[in-house]
Amino acid sequence: MSIHKLHKNITLNRLHAMKANNEKIACLTAYDASFAAILDQAGMDIILVGDSLGMVVQGHDSTVSVTMEDMIYHSQCVSSVAKNAFLISDMPFMSYTNVEQALANATDLIQLGGAQMVKLEASSRQVSIVQELSECGIPICAHLGLRPQYIHKLGGYAMQGNDEASAKELFESAQSLQAAGADILLLECVPDALAQKITQNSSIPVIGIGAGANCDGQILVLHDVIGITHGVTPKFAKNFLAGAIDIQSAIENYVQDVKSSKFPT
Ligand code: KIV
Repeated sequence: MSIHKLHKNITLNRLHAMKANNEKIACLTAYDASFAAILDQAGMDIILVGDSLGMVVQGHDSTVSVTMEDMIYHSQCVSSVAKNAFLISDMPFMSYTNVEQALANATDLIQLGGAQMVKLEASSRQVSIVQELSECGIPICAHLGLRPQYIHKLGGYAMQGNDEASAKELFESAQSLQAAGADILLLECVPDALAQKITQNSSIPVIGIGAGANCDGQILVLHDVIGITHGVTPKFAKNFLAGAIDIQSAIENYVQDVKSSKFPT
């Protein structure tokens, strides 16, 4: 492999500069090489190999059945073609219950899967894991708010941080995860005002999904963007294929709309 293959246009430094310059960050999930190539050519800043693959690829009704083997396999499919976008891979359910396990699994996603960063669903309980991984040189995205891996405890996919106490807890978790070394925050299904407050008080990029227009960037699940979601489509999602001539144009329109703040409205 040529060393040039390792060079990517979008690096963590570039993402942090985008935050500093108020440039919106466009992100989308992908799980295979064909779609990864389309996203990469469309100018996507971040591709997430999300454990949402358990639902949209494997047909389960939650993400909890996704394994490390699944994540490594799909990360390899995407990393083999994504030349420009920054690649994040999800740590699946129960793969980061303690520091040793988290370190071993994050290493596999980076060394075997080709990820540049790992994402884990976090609250203040994961601060020590984030700190240890970060000190070992592993870039971390901390996913807060609605954490789909907690579905059996939550009992449903609902907005988080709605009342004063839970909003305060979420804000404090965001602060402590950032202090522990998280490099990106991802907020899912959080009220707009809370997402804005977290974004304004973070020096690292904050990516939102169902968290309003004031985050530093936006992410959606690929299948929602091209209108092939089975079952319930989240209210905050948008089908960009409606009105586009093909999938490549739909993805380019998504990137443009995020970057020009036309999406979300
Ligand atoms: O797994 C996933 O696709 C995600 C996004 C919903 C952000 O975590």
